[in-house]
Amino acid sequence: MTTTRGAVIWMTGLSGAGKSTLAGALHHRLEEAGHPSIVLDGDVLRRGLNADLGFTPEDRAENLRRVAHVAALFMQQGFIAIAAVISPEHRHRRAAREIVGEGFVEVFVNTPLTVCEARDSKGLYARARRGEIPHFTGISGPFEAPLAPDIAIEADRTPLDDATDCLLAHLYSMRCLPE
Ligand code: ADX
Repeated sequence: MTTTRGAVIWMTGLSGAGKSTLAGALHHRLEEAGHPSIVLDGDVLRRGLNADLGFTPEDRAENLRRVAHVAALFMQQGFIAIAAVISPEHRHRRAAREIVGEGFVEVFVNTPLTVCEARDSKGLYARARRGEIPHFTGISGPFEAPLAPDIAIEADRTPLDDATDCLLAHLYSMRCLPE
């Protein structure tokens, strides 16, 4: 029998760490398994629901509060909600965990700043280094690495399939997916 127990996979990490890629891969695997899931990507949500917010610590707190509530609603409907958001401060992630409650899984997508900056897929690190982007995570704004995440993935050294398997195994262990 298929269970419908939901969860929130909360991916935290620097811009360019690979959160969206991993979120997409997990979403794809869950779809293949016939399990409902949704990706809540910070970049995407900031174009709509959160378009009124910037990147000060307070705006981020509000951004993440909204993401956590949306994720919780999906979880309550049996979805695996996959949030891909920098969520740079301990307090941001603590607040999200409190909003979601049981079923919250903190995943640290741990890619070193040097690697993210070398990739610079959106050109934002270069701009931040030139002083053009205030509060840029890792450059002109903080990133507090999680001290005790539920799962940590060295995304630059772990094949995408292996990282996805690790997340799926965790969801099985939580009994979110059928045996
Ligand atoms: S969060 O800190 O509030 O969780 P979120 O994940 O929604 O951030 O958005 C991060 C994305 O916004 C980055 O991937 C990047 O593309 C873009 N961005 C624009 N300005 C900044 C900034 N100052 N710091 C970090 N990311 C930024």
